[in-house]
Amino acid sequence: MLEDDLAKLKESALAALDAAATPAELEAIRVQTLGKKGDLTQILRGLGHMDEGQRAAFGASANAFKESFANRLAERSDALKQAELNQKLEREWVDITLPGRPRPHGTIHPVTRAQNEIIAIFTAMGFPPASGPEVESDWHNFEALNIPPDHPAREMHDTFYLPPALDGRKRLLRTHTSPVQIRVMEGKQPPLRAIAPGKVFRCDSDLTHTPMFHQVEGFMVDEGVHFGQLKGLLATFLVRFFERELPVRFRPSFFPFTEPSAEVDMGCLFCEGQGCRVCKRTGWLEVLGCGLIHPNVLTNVGIDRERYSGFAFGMGVERLAMLKYGINDIRALFDNDTRFLTRHA
Ligand code: FA5
Ligand code: MG
Repeated sequence: MLEDDLAKLKESALAALDAAATPAELEAIRVQTLGKKGDLTQILRGLGHMDEGQRAAFGASANAFKESFANRLAERSDALKQAELNQKLEREWVDITLPGRPRPHGTIHPVTRAQNEIIAIFTAMGFPPASGPEVESDWHNFEALNIPPDHPAREMHDTFYLPPALDGRKRLLRTHTSPVQIRVMEGKQPPLRAIAPGKVFRCDSDLTHTPMFHQVEGFMVDEGVHFGQLKGLLATFLVRFFERELPVRFRPSFFPFTEPSAEVDMGCLFCEGQGCRVCKRTGWLEVLGCGLIHPNVLTNVGIDRERYSGFAFGMGVERLAMLKYGINDIRALFDNDTRFLTRHA
């Protein structure tokens, strides 16, 4: 009787193992067959009614069953694992002979790169970085810089004026970084030096002008500061920035906040000085303005004009980037055309 039950169990359990489709199903069959409340345990309960000889023989068949069940279980488990692995390999198949896809990558914009290089050169020469707001007061952008309200020099800056502040003060988008000179000097005494990079705004647009551009301002105030130091500093800067000697000229100019004043031009590298659209047929491209700080400016910020003197300069970062990287239209810097950005990476 029990032998029959065991034979049936063997047949059905092995068939169930063969039919199982997942490792979880195999485990459920194992528990159902060999577990504490499983089918084999049920059958073995009947052992108590057997005599010793029968019992030994039946025990041996039960063990043989357990062994064949365990073997079949191991086989099926291996087979299912292998099938699962095969499916995974099939799903995740890649053709390793295909060409690789280049990783998308960002680059540093030429203006940012030029600006970082300018800052690095001047900080190495002892000028600490400073900054000021892009929305400025009329005082900082003009009046303190010796440009009173109706002064014709205001025409040189095509200013974007803003509605006045709540307290009625005039506001504008700064037209140059020179107001940062005022902010650094106000309430302090020489010796003073700083370098101030930042965005500036003018209603202006052509091959060499954009309505938003970047300047780097630099200045120094101390006893005995003179034009020779300014000229030497700028000449050294230009050689370091361009990493070679290029044609440079200091041209007398006018700014209300410096006296004497000069502008610095670089030989136009697009036509090698022959004259082209970029340099407006002059052979030169203006890169910066500079001069000795006007005594009225020192007085405006409470510095003794008799004892101290200073120099200041303000350079156009886009202009320097155009010359360094060979970009013949300043507006290309702001088109965000990725082909241009990659070419100048
Ligand atoms: C000034 O802005 C003065 N604040 C510079 C200065 C500072 C003089 C300290 C003396 C002492 P200017 O307007 O020339 O000067 O501008 C300075 C430089 O900015 C120019 O030489 C040019 O390189 C650049 N620049 C001027 N306008 C534009 C523009 N619209 N687009 C791009 N670059 C410009
Ligand atoms: Mg100028």
